[in-house]
Order: sequence, then structure tokens, then C-alpha cells
Amino acid sequence: MATALITGASNGIGLELAKIHAAKGDDLVLVARNKQKLDELKSELEAAHKVKVCTIGKDLSLPNAAKEVYDETTRQHIRIDYLINNAGFGDFGMFAETDWNKELQMINLNITALTHFTKLYLQDMVKRRSGRIMNVASTAAFQPGPTMSVYCATKAYVLSFSEAVNNEVSDKGITITALCPGPTESGFQAAAAQEESKIVKGKKMPSAKAVAEFGYRAMISGKTIAIHGMMNAILANSVRFMPRLLVVKVTRNLLDKAQ
Ligand SMILES: NC(=O)c1ccc[n+]([C@@H]2O[C@H](COP(=O)([O-])OP(=O)(O)OC[C@H]3O[C@@H](n4cnc5c(N)ncnc54)[C@H](OP(=O)(O)O)[C@@H]3O)[C@@H](O)[C@H]2O)c1
Repeated sequence: MATALITGASNGIGLELAKIHAAKGDDLVLVARNKQKLDELKSELEAAHKVKVCTIGKDLSLPNAAKEVYDETTRQHIRIDYLINNAGFGDFGMFAETDWNKELQMINLNITALTHFTKLYLQDMVKRRSGRIMNVASTAAFQPGPTMSVYCATKAYVLSFSEAVNNEVSDKGITITALCPGPTESGFQAAAAQEESKIVKGKKMPSAKAVAEFGYRAMISGKTIAIHGMMNAILANSVRFMPRLLVVKVTRNLLDKAQ
């Protein structure tokens, strides 16, 4: 029996991860702002798989939110075996014109909450000498991204942080996996106001379910970096051999608004 805590479980990849974990017969803690959607998912999963699901409605971009969730799971004596830091969002537009408050919330969620959750639950995992953590990064992590500059930088942080801490705990029975999806069908594009970007407009994207299945398998097998899709893996790795100026230009061209 392994209990998983999944942030951003009310939609998209996080919701699919919750379904996969419950189908194994294991318990869950689900976190997101939309408590009603979490409670609907809880009813569905508890009825279908006879598991216990705890839901916590929380805006994880607010200061101390991760600690409040940690305190709640401690109060309820729930041991977290798998921590899945999935909640995150982006924003599309030129940095000189985008909204600072949205970017601040993004940094708080994509970086601060993820880092704080990792610290809190990792300390318990180290004491037990077991645990799995999956941090959802992105193929955006591998290069600077004009028109999504802050988002790409937050995901570069997630990738770098995950690889480094994974190295620190690799002899302690714990693994940290950075899941790197490419563009995926979910609520992400609407939340990022990215629908007009060439990389998604009119494009067939993999489903959130397919990405979740890939990520869950990678987490269980303890993979350090899991890039979804062959083309995404080739592109993510190829940037290391290209001049950075060229990489940024090509990325701008891929992300720009479709004409
Ligand atoms: N879809 C893609 O193209 C893509 C590609 C690469 C990486 N990713 C990454 O994959 C992860 C999941 O995104 P998704 O594609 O599944 O997008 P999504 O469908 O928009 O889901 C995002 C989830 O995060 C939660 N969330 C957003 N803001 C939150 C906040 N302030 N506090 C707590 N929860 C919050 C949302 O729930 P509430 O609204 O209920 O809070 C929702 O459950 C993100 O980290 C994203 O950056 C996505």
C-alpha cells in the first residue's frame, strides 16, 4: 500500500495520475484550488477502487501553502509514499507586456510550492529510507522560451533542482523523477492564453492520460528524467549541441503566434 499526494489533481495530467494510482488500489491525497472537482473525483475513485481519498482545497501560490498541506496530512496521520508535484501553469506573451501578478503566482506555484513540498516530505522519506517523488517539468525546461520566458525558466529550475536532489538521495532509497511532457491536451493552453501559439494551434497533441501513464511508469521505475515522445526527446537533447543564440531563435519561431 503506497499513498500518493498529487498537486493539481482537479484537471489534466494530475487528474489522470490520480486515476492511474487509484486503479492500483492505493490511497490518495488530492490538492488543487477547485475542492468541488476534487470531491467529485474522490467519490468516483472511492466507489470504483475501494481506496481512501483525502481532498485538500488550497491555492498553492499563496505563502506557506505547502506547509499547511503538510501539517494537514500529518494531523490525519497520512504517510506520503509518492509525492507528485504536478500543479503548474504558464503564460504566453512578451515579457514587457505580460501581467506581473500572474507571473508572481506562477513562480510561487511552479517553483516555491514545489520546492517546499519536496523539502517537507523528503525529510520524512529520508528517515524511512524509501519514497518516490515526481516533479512535473516540461520540454520547456531545456531551452529559453521567448513569448513564455518566465514559464520556461520555472521549468528549467524544476529540472535542475530535481536532478540535483535526486543525486543527493540516490543512496537513501529515494528517487526523484522530472517528467518532461511536450504540448499536451489539457487545460494548460487556456490557462496560459497560449491557444494562438504555433506550437499548439491546429496541432494534434497527446492526451493527458498518455502523458500520465508514461510519467507514472517512469516514477515507479525511478527514472531521473522522463521526456514524453520520441521527437520531444530528440529536440530536448539536440539543443546541447547547438549555439545558444540559434536555439533561442528557433524556439521563438516555434512558440510565436500563428499568422
Ligand atoms: N499541457 C501541457 O502542454 C504541458 C506541457 C508540459 C508541462 N506541463 C505541466 O504539466 C503540469 C500539469 O498541467 P496540465 O497540463 O495538466 O494543466 P491543467 O489541465 O491546466 O491542470 C493544472 C492543474 O494545476 C492546478 N492548479 C493551477 N493553479 C493552482 C494553484 N494556484 N494552486 C493549486 N493548484 C493549482 C489546477 O487546479 P485548480 O484550477 O483547481 O487549482 C489543475 O488541477 C503543469 O506543471 C504544467 O506546467 C503541461
